[in-house]
Amino acid sequence: MEAPRIIQLPKFLDDRGNLSFIEENNHIPFKIERTYWIYDVPGGERRGGHAYLNLQEFIVAISGSFDVVLHDGVKEMRYSLNRSYYGLYVPKMMWREIENFSTNSLALILTNGKYDVNEYIRGFDQFVSCKHGR
Ligand code: TYD
Repeated sequence: MEAPRIIQLPKFLDDRGNLSFIEENNHIPFKIERTYWIYDVPGGERRGGHAYLNLQEFIVAISGSFDVVLHDGVKEMRYSLNRSYYGLYVPKMMWREIENFSTNSLALILTNGKYDVNEYIRGFDQFVSCKHGR
């Protein structure tokens, strides 16, 4: 099974401004089926609080900063995202929350499947049971 990891993206630094990009099955290890973004998050709010049965994600802080907190059923990992030239790869079956959004932050999320309510595990205890095959 793939592990969560920070992936550096190509970046073209230029006096006219910088440019980065993402190619599916190249910079990220999946085909992109859906893109969504989270924005205008009020101070102190958290997003997520779920796991996906099969979906993988790649999360980029296009603007501002936030923390992605992952739990693999045994331990918690925290990643601070604050630049648009890298992102966090999140494999399936990881509990994930996003918090500490800065003002005007923009979280871009790429994933390998259409929106499907049946993909969600919304209880942490259920997630841990699933993870340990109980
Ligand atoms: P939700 O997954 O609960 O947001 P988060 O986990 O970031 O807190 O989604 C919020 C609402 O948006 C929910 O009613 C479902 C809807 N939604 C879609 O319709 N399509 C999507 O691609 C996503 C991510 C959410």
